[in-house]
Amino acid sequence: MVAPNAPVAQQTVLVRVKRQDTPQSAPRWEEFRVPYGEGANVISVLQWIAANPVTVAGERTTPVAWESGCLEEVCGSCTMVINGRVRQSCSALIANIIQADGTITLEPMSKFPVVRDLAVDRERMFRNLARVKAWVPIDGTWSLGRGPLEAPANADTRYVLSTCMTCGCCLEACPQFGLEDDPAKWDTALQGAQVWNQVRLFNMQAVGATLSNQRLDAVMGEGGIADCGNAQNCVKVCPKEIPLTESIAEIGRQSTIRGVKRYLGG
Ligand code: SF4
Ligand code: SF4
Ligand code: FES
Repeated sequence: MVAPNAPVAQQTVLVRVKRQDTPQSAPRWEEFRVPYGEGANVISVLQWIAANPVTVAGERTTPVAWESGCLEEVCGSCTMVINGRVRQSCSALIANIIQADGTITLEPMSKFPVVRDLAVDRERMFRNLARVKAWVPIDGTWSLGRGPLEAPANADTRYVLSTCMTCGCCLEACPQFGLEDDPAKWDTALQGAQVWNQVRLFNMQAVGATLSNQRLDAVMGEGGIADCGNAQNCVKVCPKEIPLTESIAEIGRQSTIRGVKRYLGG
């Protein structure tokens, strides 16, 4: 019989972290032995390491850097590669991801420039959202009156498309999307499923649709929708289960129509 107040045997996980001090420096691996309890996730393990930055070899090191915000899989900022699979670290419970050998492996996403350790610079995605005007144009200094009514029939579809959190999982998994750390080349590098899905969303919205042609023009150049290889890796990793291949097909269809109209002088 276990005596009251007897210490509970603590489980530990060996955490392998790919580290990089600056955007230019070479990566290296460090390992940490971390105790964890029920409900622990990757973020809580990283917090423990931040408070105890000592490797399994007994060497004191710097705390591991990472990003997080909402802690409920809504903001996308904590996205990293965990045991070789891109996902959010806040929703990755240790009990569910610990490997048979008692380890977990954490790496930064490989398709975005590393800022430090597990934190990457996702600005390229936000730049692309601006390029396609991923917004509803309602700015003004006076009342514009009542807007057009939205069609309830496509509300469910639009809701799912709108759950994108710009996490980057679909781009990390895309074989056509490569690391490009020169912002001067972002305008011609592959845009990716994340932004094409937003083009579909805002082209479906009654007021947003007033910018449809500009959005389609922005996805019809180099790096645009025609460069998608249709490997469909993106749809398999989207944590919000957004039907990205449907969005790609729909924007491909809209671009074709737009191309014909442009050719005819429309
Ligand atoms: S379908 Fe297109 S966007 Fe999706 S993974 Fe393949 S190439 Fe990338
Ligand atoms: S489409 Fe899905 S995987 Fe891609 S950025 Fe949005 S939420 Fe993430
Ligand atoms: S912290 Fe926001 S998605 Fe994980």
